[in-house]
Order: sequence, then C-alpha cells, then structure tokens
Amino acid sequence: MIDNMEHKTVFKVEAVEWLLGGKNRGIFVDGTTGHGGHTCEILKRLVDGKVIAIDRDEEILNLAKKRCKDYLRRVIFIKENFKNLPLILTKMEIDEVDGLLLDLGVSTLQLLKGDRGFSLLHNGPLDMRMDKSQEIDARYLVNTLSEEKLAKIFREYGEEKKADIIAKAIVEERRFKTINTTRELVEIVLRVKPIYKRQKIHPATKVFMALRIAVNGELDGLDRFLINFIKNNLKSGGRVIIISFHSLEDRIIKRTFNLLAGKCVCGLPADLCRCPREKIIKILKPFPLKPSFNDVKENRRMRSAKLRGVEKL
Ligand SMILES: C[S@@+](CC[C@H](N)C(=O)[O-])C[C@H]1O[C@@H](n2cnc3c(N)ncnc32)[C@H](O)[C@@H]1O
Repeated sequence: MIDNMEHKTVFKVEAVEWLLGGKNRGIFVDGTTGHGGHTCEILKRLVDGKVIAIDRDEEILNLAKKRCKDYLRRVIFIKENFKNLPLILTKMEIDEVDGLLLDLGVSTLQLLKGDRGFSLLHNGPLDMRMDKSQEIDARYLVNTLSEEKLAKIFREYGEEKKADIIAKAIVEERRFKTINTTRELVEIVLRVKPIYKRQKIHPATKVFMALRIAVNGELDGLDRFLINFIKNNLKSGGRVIIISFHSLEDRIIKRTFNLLAGKCVCGLPADLCRCPREKIIKILKPFPLKPSFNDVKENRRMRSAKLRGVEKL
C-alpha cells in the first residue's frame, strides 16, 4: 500500500534543469528527498557525480531508496534535518557542493497515512512529526500551549481569521478531556467554523497547516541556514533552487535571496539603511515560476507552489 502511494513531483523537470544549469557532473544535495522524484531526475541526468539525499522522515527515505534503486552507487541517503547540512558535509569531508534543491512542505505519504496525524481527512493520532524521534508532537502543543500561544500559531502560520475563537474552543475542550486525535480537533474547529455547501477548502485546513509548521519548526532558522550554506558550502557557479508552498516561507526565501544579491531588504531610506549590500549571488529569474492552469488541473497540490533559484557568483 505504502509503496503505491504516488507523489506527483512538483516542477520535476524545471527544478532539476535550474539546479544543474547545463552541468552533468558534480555533487548535488536534495535536502527534501521525499519520495525521491527530484533525486532520481538529478541522478538520471548526471553522467558523473553524486547526490546527497536528505529527509528527516525515515519512513519516506525508505521509499526514495527503493525508487532510486538503479542509481545506488551514486546516491547517499541520510536521515537528517537539511538545516544540519554544513555539519553533514563536514562529517563527509566535503567542503563545497555544486547545488542544493529544497522542495519544502509535506509529502503524499505523510498526508495519506492516517497514523502520521497530518491529515484532517484521515483520523489518527494528533502527531504531525516528520521526524518521529522528535519529542514534541501536535498532541503536546494542542494540549499544553496557552490560548494566546495557540491563537498566535493559527494566526501567524495559518493566517486563520478565527484564530482566537478556535484557540478558545480548544482550551475549553481541554477542561473536560485531552484532545488525542485528528478527528477530535476537526470537530472542535467545525463547531466554530461550520462547513458550507460547495466550500472548496475544509474549514480546518489552516489550523492543521499552522500546527504542522509549528511542530516541525519549518520556518525556524531557514534564513540563517541559507545564508551560511551559500556563503560557506556552495561552489562558485553553484545553485540553490527552492520550491515553497506557503507565503511566509516564500517571503523568507525571497528576502534572503535579495539580501545575498546585494539589495536593500529593510525598506528604510538610503541614509538609514544598514543592509550589507554585498552581492554574492545572482537571482536566476526576477519572478518565481508558478504553475500553469494545466499543472494545477493535474496536481492540485501545485496551486500555491513557487520556484525560485539563485547562482553563486
Ligand atoms: C514535498 S516533499 C518532497 C518530495 C520530493 N521532492 C519528491 O518529488 O518526491 C517534502 C519532504 O521534505 C521533508 N522535509 C521537510 N522539512 C525537512 C527538513 N527540515 N529536513 C529534512 N527533510 C525535510 C519531508 O519529510 C518531506 O518528505
């Protein structure tokens, strides 16, 4: 069953072509290998070289290993957080690599397996950890955080307009019982935000997305990681390509790329601006690549996808 869970790789050809930039040899990192869609595509196009394939989810990494079985001599799979990439490279005695690809967000397996607790459509434990060895899960956050902190997560990560009342309803429910399952959480949200006929997006979608981002610390340190990696571990001429699905995530990526491209990111008048204005990358395209109408028709998950890329000078 798990083997058959198809994950439609987003921007498969575009992302890999941008990443390789015409090269067919070198060391490339897929920091979010998932089901291995991009990893295999990179390996297929490399005449010589290696791919370091990272995912923090062990279950998924095993799927990628199976998918890339024809290339096992040229790929190294590592269960890690890509934000630890500098450390991983040091351990492997690699100073610099030719490119890094990140396809952020969740994979199909995580969404479709109820026991992972990511999906509001499949009942399961309120988990949502990409890395199952991590202590904090969604159940812990939902049952222990204060009303204010829960509301902040729903508002900031989910852009949920009813963040305050949903948080209040959760805290109210906690007075009687622990909230253990995805279904229980969905029911609480539905009490506050009833479902209407022909509604395209389920009322609990934003709450689930916000919790997932919080549980996995998805936005934490992303900017710092990119700056350090590009400065210290990316070869001159090497590329970083990122697919994001969330406006906050995209904002962080855009700002960080602009900063490293020597642009002002503070918005202050020139005499007050303290931005470093040091140009160490060039931005490949002035605007992100977005999916076409047909892309979205074929794969609804693509509707919010944005592809950005840079090259180190
Ligand atoms: C959208 S999927 C990648 C799909 C993949 N490109 C493919 O085509 O099969 C995102 C993957 O990134 C992983 N992930 C998310 N954040 C991560 C992080 N900080 N470190 C390592 N893996 C991460 C998730 O576990 C998930 O498997």
